[in-house]
Amino acid sequence: MTIKRSSKPSWLNCFKNQEHVPKIEKTLEPHNSMKRRSTYIDSVSLMQSKDVSDSLPGSNLYVFTLAELRVITQSFASCNFLGEGGFGPVHKGFIDDKLRPGLKAQPVAVKLLNLEGGQGQREWLTEVVFLGELRHPHLVKLIGYCCEDEHRLLVYEYMPRGSLESQLFQRFSISLPWSTRIKIALGAAKGLTFLHEAKNPVIYRDFKTSNILLDSDYTAKLSDFGLAKDGPEGDDTHVSTRVMGTHGYTAPEYLMTGRLTASSDVYSFGVVLVELLTGRRSMDETRPHREQNLAEWARPLLKRATKFNRIMDSRLEGQYPETGAQKVAELAYQCLNRRPKERPTMSMIVDTLEPLTNFDDTSFGTFVYVAPTVVECSTNKTSKDGHKDINEHHHRQHDGKHNRTKSPVVYCETNLQKNPSVRTSSPE
Ligand SMILES: Nc1ncnc2c1ncn2[C@@H]1O[C@H](COP(=O)(O)OP(=O)(O)OP(=O)(O)O)[C@@H](O)[C@H]1O
Ligand SMILES: [Mg+2]
Repeated sequence: MTIKRSSKPSWLNCFKNQEHVPKIEKTLEPHNSMKRRSTYIDSVSLMQSKDVSDSLPGSNLYVFTLAELRVITQSFASCNFLGEGGFGPVHKGFIDDKLRPGLKAQPVAVKLLNLEGGQGQREWLTEVVFLGELRHPHLVKLIGYCCEDEHRLLVYEYMPRGSLESQLFQRFSISLPWSTRIKIALGAAKGLTFLHEAKNPVIYRDFKTSNILLDSDYTAKLSDFGLAKDGPEGDDTHVSTRVMGTHGYTAPEYLMTGRLTASSDVYSFGVVLVELLTGRRSMDETRPHREQNLAEWARPLLKRATKFNRIMDSRLEGQYPETGAQKVAELAYQCLNRRPKERPTMSMIVDTLEPLTNFDDTSFGTFVYVAPTVVECSTNKTSKDGHKDINEHHHRQHDGKHNRTKSPVVYCETNLQKNPSVRTSSPE
């Protein structure tokens, strides 16, 4: 087995075997000496060169072969299937300590780019560039990637409690206690603060419950940097860009104008806060028309102390502190302000949430913890050559246990409001 640590940007060799062989761009600088990661991604996406391998010297990612990832995931066995979004299926795997010197034995999550899907190579590249560089306790760790022929995979640290989306909305799971919800909100807020206040700030652009992953102790980590953008430079107040994001989470001014700011993330954060308060999804077409868009429905109710109790998640069974919940409702209201400049910054949000973390749920009664079900991998479906079709998930329906309502991700111009379920893969 040959697994190389990518002291060099060997992910760029991915283009070697492609029809459109990238061309050398002699003037290309290493991305971390370039201020603009997004510019770098643009240039690489357009490049006609197969020798840009000195462009990512700072990357500390491992490069895996497809064969190795097959071993790690037991040939992408369905019992290891964790979920699937617009990018493609995600499988659990296990790396042993012999795989690479310095890489400890650990469970991992392997995400496979769906070659037929809309999100595409550019997002894979964006994820590698952003997450290869950014490290923080509230960002999921990208361990490495695989780039072989047309295959594109990403290998992350495994997050045992999956996504906030599944924890909050799964019908048969127990309800998340109030203190856990605040812990998750605070962790995610710290992750966004880190991005917004970085030396070269980042706008995350896809903040939502399915992109908040949870460690065993419910530490929240942001995943999915495929839509991330560099923040505005110098005196610029915003980045002008095509509207991309997820319906129900996207800030209205960004939706209308394509002007992206850190405040757009703050708006999305406000939507997630409302989801945590109410236990309702950001978009829910099964509800009466005026309740389908959570932010629009909840906003007027959040600011009235007499009304906000009516929207609280009934699964909390009243087990939350009245004043603490009121403060969170107020905070959500501010985040959802129509005027982006009047929204709080992420660090102000952290300061507001921090004092709300010391609530004792047990003061209301006994909290029963139900361990998640572990599915044993007894059989592996393999092909004649011993390999399971890694694209199998693209062609079949998942069985019930993996089903979830997918958020309609939108990658198109301002027709977002008109057709929330549109998916396109058009590059920016
Ligand atoms: N590092 C990880 N550890 C554990 N589970 C993960 C990990 N990454 C992803 N998953 C699981 O895989 C599911 C699919 O993740 P993915 O990020 O591909 O899509 P999504 O966020 O659900 O949808 P979208 O494409 O809209 O972002 C997640 O909801 C989560 O349950
Ligand atoms: Mg995701």
